[in-house]
Amino acid sequence: MIKFKSDADRDSVMHELELNMNEEFRAAIQYICHRITAQSIDSMMAEAFKSAALDEMSHILFFSDLITKHGGTPKFRNWDTDKSIDIKTMLEKDIELEKSARKRYSAQLKQMKDYPEILSIIQSVLSDEEEHEAIFTDYLEKMT
Ligand SMILES: [Fe+2]
Ligand SMILES: [Fe+2]
Repeated sequence: MIKFKSDADRDSVMHELELNMNEEFRAAIQYICHRITAQSIDSMMAEAFKSAALDEMSHILFFSDLITKHGGTPKFRNWDTDKSIDIKTMLEKDIELEKSARKRYSAQLKQMKDYPEILSIIQSVLSDEEEHEAIFTDYLEKMT
């Protein structure tokens, strides 16, 4: 169990973990929608969406398990996902999501520097997000 510096610190970490879990849900669902739409247009790209969605699914559970382990109850929000059916728009929306994830996790690396267990999970998730962003950007560049 992590020993938090204060109750306020624990609350703030738990809040961030819950935000992460919900943002990961949003990405997982969005990429599955994009996988379905892309399937008849570009099966390689569809596979890239699926692979990213599966990574995001693992990320959901990393964060929900951290919350549960430390006595919290993960709460589900409403996930606002992109439902466009145009490949270029889909890739742009996905890159936006990855950029915002990268920003959030980079900030959390500083915020959670005293908690190595959480830090190592965020580092590993962040490296997956960097990879997703690079793959989506590569597909988008090939289109333009
Ligand atoms: Fe993720
Ligand atoms: Fe991602």
